[in-house]
Amino acid sequence: MPKLKTKTVFFCQECGYESTKWMGQCPACRQWNTFVEETVSPAKTGAGIHHGSREKVKPTRMNDISMTETARTKTGIGELDRVLGGGIVRGSMVLIGGDPGIGKSTLLLQACRNLAAAGKQVLYISGEESLQQIRMRAERIGDMSDSLLLLTETNLGTIKETIEEVKPDICVIDSIQTMYNEEITSAPGSVSQVREATGTLMMLAKGLDISIFIVGHVTKDGSVAGPRVLEHMVDTVLYFEGDRQASYRILRAVKNRFGSTNEIGVFEMRESGLTEVPNPSEYMLSGKPEGASGSVVACSVEGSRPVLIEIQALVCKTNFNLPKRTAAGTDYNRVNLLMAVLEKRCDLQLGYYDAYVNIAGGIRMNEPAVDLGIALAIASSYQDKAISDRTIVFGEVGLSGEVRAVSGADIRVQEAKKLGFDTAVVPQANMRSLKGITGITLVPVDSIRTAIREILK
Ligand code: TYD
Ligand code: MG
Repeated sequence: MPKLKTKTVFFCQECGYESTKWMGQCPACRQWNTFVEETVSPAKTGAGIHHGSREKVKPTRMNDISMTETARTKTGIGELDRVLGGGIVRGSMVLIGGDPGIGKSTLLLQACRNLAAAGKQVLYISGEESLQQIRMRAERIGDMSDSLLLLTETNLGTIKETIEEVKPDICVIDSIQTMYNEEITSAPGSVSQVREATGTLMMLAKGLDISIFIVGHVTKDGSVAGPRVLEHMVDTVLYFEGDRQASYRILRAVKNRFGSTNEIGVFEMRESGLTEVPNPSEYMLSGKPEGASGSVVACSVEGSRPVLIEIQALVCKTNFNLPKRTAAGTDYNRVNLLMAVLEKRCDLQLGYYDAYVNIAGGIRMNEPAVDLGIALAIASSYQDKAISDRTIVFGEVGLSGEVRAVSGADIRVQEAKKLGFDTAVVPQANMRSLKGITGITLVPVDSIRTAIREILK
């Protein structure tokens, strides 16, 4: 038998781009320093385990496809169902990415518990924790269904056999970076292993009509392939984010073949697992100081739901030649741009001041509609005048200092009204869509200058 030749290839860890030589910058995704070296045996990767059996297939007419095939299964966690687009689609593959320790395993175990309790056959495969550890986590979360099946395994061949034998309705793979195919020489977590594992699982999901959740750790560390590589292979990509120190967590859909993206689910990590936060605005605003300058409530629309957030700015005289600026929870360059607009269009001498901008609660908001909030928070701190606690603001700010229209103005105002705000500073151009709204004072503004004049009296 001829000896199999192995070859060395380089993969981009971000996007999976393959190259025969190392490159500093990936030509596909333009990221720097993302190439890792891996040894693959061409004959074997070409004939991975999922290529083994091939059945005869024939095309189906569009009209013959019954719609019930996309029936969704509720996980019993409302926030997760929302992000998934209404529940789990049969035969779909969902990737949940996030930093280690953010709560991916906890969330999935909770979902598995509910699904098993609802009579579904659920198989939870962990390559990271022992059965005892999973049991300990389950104890914290509370009552576990007896019918939930657990397996600790990392060998892809065994996993494939088990799934084929058990034929669960829902299967969880925690995490994809620990799974390996013994026919591939590179280490678990490498790009080729991760890709092979995902490919195999995808075949199982589609072939056996099983919904599979895979967990992927996001890391730029050299040894582990980032789940970015898999994003184009799976049906749905969810990212679990949040400050590990703070207790809330946000689940965000960045790709969804069966629902809208940018939908968010908000959770709080408690002693007994993750609890849903059905009204994130109230949660984000709890602890807002009263009557303090530099604090403004803005509104950002995430997916289909408005979220009120507190923006804080602290502007103080600089001790150095170069003023210091920081932006936590929003785009740093955007903050710099807004400060330049304030300086040029509103005569605020910000060049001599340090500025620290923070979205309270640690949540990240990059929607342009928070521009006006950031600008007013800076102006409020600069002038040391507080903005009323019962006022919300939203609007995009342009380079000439104009306040531009934003989408979903009505739902933003409705949310503010619901939470007891009495005034909303809104873009003039949005006024037409806000005609029918009563019970809250609308302050239309066309420029940041007018907004400052109206609000910082
Ligand atoms: P985990 O789900 O293991 O994270 P991941 O799978 O994303 O790596 O979550 C681990 C963290 O959550 C850990 O720091 C402990 C904390 N935690 C709680 O605070 N309460 C709980 O009930 C559980 C199960 C975990
Ligand atoms: Mg985990």
